[in-house]
Amino acid sequence: MFRDKTCGELRLANVNETVTLAGWVQKTRKMGGMAFVDLRDRYGITQLAFNQEVNAALCDQANKLGREFVIQVTGVVKERSSKNNHIDTGEIEIIVSELNVLNSAETPPFTIEDETDGGDDIRMQYRYLDLRRNPVRKNMELRHKMAFEVRRFLDEQRFLEVETPILIKSTPEGARDFVVPSRMNAGQFYALPQSPQTFKQLLMVSGFDRYFQIVKCFRDEDLRADRQPEFTQIDCEMSFVDQEDVLNTFEGMAKHLFKYIKDIDFNEAFPRMVWSDAMKYYGSDKPDIRFDMRFVELKDLTVDRNFVVFDSAPYVAGICAKGAAVYTRKQLDELTDFVKKPQVGAKGLIYVRCEANGKFKSSVDKFYSQEDLKSWADRMGAVEGDLLLLICGTVSQTQKALCELRLEMGTRLGLRDKNVFAPLWVIDFPLFEWDEDSNRFYAMHHPFTSPKAEDFALLDTDPGKVRANAYDMVINGVELGGGSIRIHDSKLQNKMFQLLGFTDEKAQEQFGFLMDAFKYGAPPHGGLAFGLDRLVSLFAGLDSIRDCIAFPKNNSGRDVMIDAPAAIDDTQLKELSLLVDLKA
Ligand code: AMO
Repeated sequence: MFRDKTCGELRLANVNETVTLAGWVQKTRKMGGMAFVDLRDRYGITQLAFNQEVNAALCDQANKLGREFVIQVTGVVKERSSKNNHIDTGEIEIIVSELNVLNSAETPPFTIEDETDGGDDIRMQYRYLDLRRNPVRKNMELRHKMAFEVRRFLDEQRFLEVETPILIKSTPEGARDFVVPSRMNAGQFYALPQSPQTFKQLLMVSGFDRYFQIVKCFRDEDLRADRQPEFTQIDCEMSFVDQEDVLNTFEGMAKHLFKYIKDIDFNEAFPRMVWSDAMKYYGSDKPDIRFDMRFVELKDLTVDRNFVVFDSAPYVAGICAKGAAVYTRKQLDELTDFVKKPQVGAKGLIYVRCEANGKFKSSVDKFYSQEDLKSWADRMGAVEGDLLLLICGTVSQTQKALCELRLEMGTRLGLRDKNVFAPLWVIDFPLFEWDEDSNRFYAMHHPFTSPKAEDFALLDTDPGKVRANAYDMVINGVELGGGSIRIHDSKLQNKMFQLLGFTDEKAQEQFGFLMDAFKYGAPPHGGLAFGLDRLVSLFAGLDSIRDCIAFPKNNSGRDVMIDAPAAIDDTQLKELSLLVDLKA
């Protein structure tokens, strides 16, 4: 046995015990005739003490240990004279009698400390060392605990974990597929699943009733802080359910996680918001409702005062930033620059300060009287000390820009505390999304999503207005999960494919297996999938999901540690009947 205790478990109660520990050298210190070594493993840090007078050779050996050496020590636990109350083992130390160097180590390229000197790139290149650091390891421990609690909860609800294949045919989730050439079927390719969507529906046809899987999914899309090319879903599906059943089940799961992981009780039902309200009031299908600051439409109160910008705009709306009338000219200029950024997309920003004695000061004083400005303030529920910020343009441009501005103001005013959690169901998504470029409808969620029964008639007359039995769980402005009640009727499914511009042949070629399956008794079913990486990040208060993934990709989709993707050699290409043409 290499050890009988870990570096995190010894306390005063263990004093005078002889113990053997193994781990990594965090640091060594020389003090007078003593040498001290901090020994680290996953569980903590224990101080080792070596006394020159008692054993000079051993003390010399300790002084020669380098950072990250792997050692084994045996000694007696003693109470420390100067205690360290920052660590759990801070009341004791080991008076070492035996030291065994199990492995030496080169000096690591960055310090293995909570606050490291290593930049992002170097830490990713040596991720196995980065994972030795407490904050990173803690995220992995949290991830384990959350996945474990998810399994426990779903198992208790009779969900069955079933693995589905990774080498499949293209799934219709909307992103690009990663593909894998087949050696045995020259010229043909597997696609990696963007989600197990079709398989979980087939499992419902098989009578599995309640399925889940903690599963890797792959999407070749532009990466952001909350997106990785391979990520993990908690993927779920249920039979004989309606939307209410699915929402209740998974609201239960979210509450279970909050209770068991963070000891937070949500006694009330999560609020629900229809998609059209989310867009109208927050300009987003994933509103952060930790703070209010809803959009207020003002077009009718702004016209006919010779202010061409508002007169010519189809839509004028604003937000009221509570207490921000103190904003200086410089701060307002910063906000104007912010909304003009290409990714925000506004042409400009109008402000109104609600000052003392019912006076208003605005950037459009030339055009609007105090009464005009008061009418805006009244509609926006503004009081003295508030700042009104207005944007105009098309509805979608304005909503997008105002959404970004609202989040920016939320951040600036300290309204987005990471320790406050504001869950929300966004429901009644549109079934279709119109794409101007290709002049056709796309499924907003995926083509298996069922329209709302009351909107069936609109499928023929005004498909753009059809609402879906689709829902997302949003917490603090992050889309954590989403799903829908599915179509289980092959006729309706065919109609969907037609509306989405699939020919019968194309639909048969891509989804024939599913439509066939639906002919053999498909139960009504529905489900959803959570993003595990996003869920863990939210619970850990992380800015990027990368920090809770052991071996993540960088923003160009590369694993810089193993240097992937990489070219393959000619023999492999030949075997796969592939020719690479980089000029194409
Ligand atoms: P959807 O595409 O909404 O639905 O994905 C479900 C959840 O997966 C997470 N997610 C991601 N996380 C990290 N990186 C990504 N690139 C990424 N893409 C998605 C999000 C999202 O809410 N089959 C359907 C679910 C269903 O209908 O049951 C699906 O995949 O948290």
